[in-house]
Amino acid sequence: MRNETQPRVGISTQSGVAVMTLARPQNLNALSRALTDELDANLLRLAADETVRVVVLQADGKHFCAGADIADMSTMTYDEATRTDFIGCSRELGRFPKPVIAAVHGMVLGGGCELAEMCDIVLAADDAVFAHPEVTLNAMPGAGGTQRLPRAVGRHLAMDMLLTGRRLSAEEARQAGLVSRIVSRDQLRSQALALAEEIAQRPLGLLTRMKQSVLRAHPGLDEGLAFEASSFQACFQEEPFLQAMQAFVKKQEARR
Ligand code: CAA
Repeated sequence: MRNETQPRVGISTQSGVAVMTLARPQNLNALSRALTDELDANLLRLAADETVRVVVLQADGKHFCAGADIADMSTMTYDEATRTDFIGCSRELGRFPKPVIAAVHGMVLGGGCELAEMCDIVLAADDAVFAHPEVTLNAMPGAGGTQRLPRAVGRHLAMDMLLTGRRLSAEEARQAGLVSRIVSRDQLRSQALALAEEIAQRPLGLLTRMKQSVLRAHPGLDEGLAFEASSFQACFQEEPFLQAMQAFVKKQEARR
């Protein structure tokens, strides 16, 4: 078994591009608190690094990310969730000042889908599948799923996905506006890097001003994110959510 003290996020930097790789494939890159802390520490460092102009976020293993770490969450109390303002995902990615390209493949679920929603360009492998299965845990998203998803795909498809856990193929997600481009699985990393290198040729000041301007296309987002976070934390007081997490951990229930 892999040593969990090894880095859970790999970083390589060259030519103005930093590539961040989720590296917890044995747990399908589930977003444990340790992983999200590491992700956020790296993002803060890359934000301050003037040699970095563009970031690529990708993942090792069969799937991009199976969402928040349910085993990790299953031991959390309501008091702890509210005291730490827990959202089960990265805090820094959504406010990262430079362009971020998500390069996703396989399952892109829950908090993993929220990571993609936080990015600026989403490059999807043709095998990518997008969903918000929180509802199947009797929970709701906590890191922007109810805010950024409707802004990307519109309220009606977003509610269909959020209320049922419905999965979208890469092509359905592209047509809906959640995905920018689809590439073959074996070309995903090289295409993401090539796109990042193309963008990184532009001046950093221009790239950050462009991004800050586009982020202002969504007034009210911060207020919505705060409401969502406290609504998500309220789930930790509810028996159906606590039971569903235990069922997942104990592998007691077939889940979609
Ligand atoms: N948290 C913790 N561990 C997870 C995980 C998760 N979200 N998803 C998968 N794993 C673990 C499994 O427990 C399993 O561990 P073991 O090998 O130790 O048993 C390992 O990863 C492989 O998973 P599976 O055997 O289940 O792999 P699969 O190919 O049969 O199924 C899957 C893949 C459909 C993604 C399935 O793992 C699954 O449904 N995972 C949960 C997805 C989910 O509900 N995500 C939402 C979480 S909540 C959230 O993200 C946001 C929030 O704010 C609440």
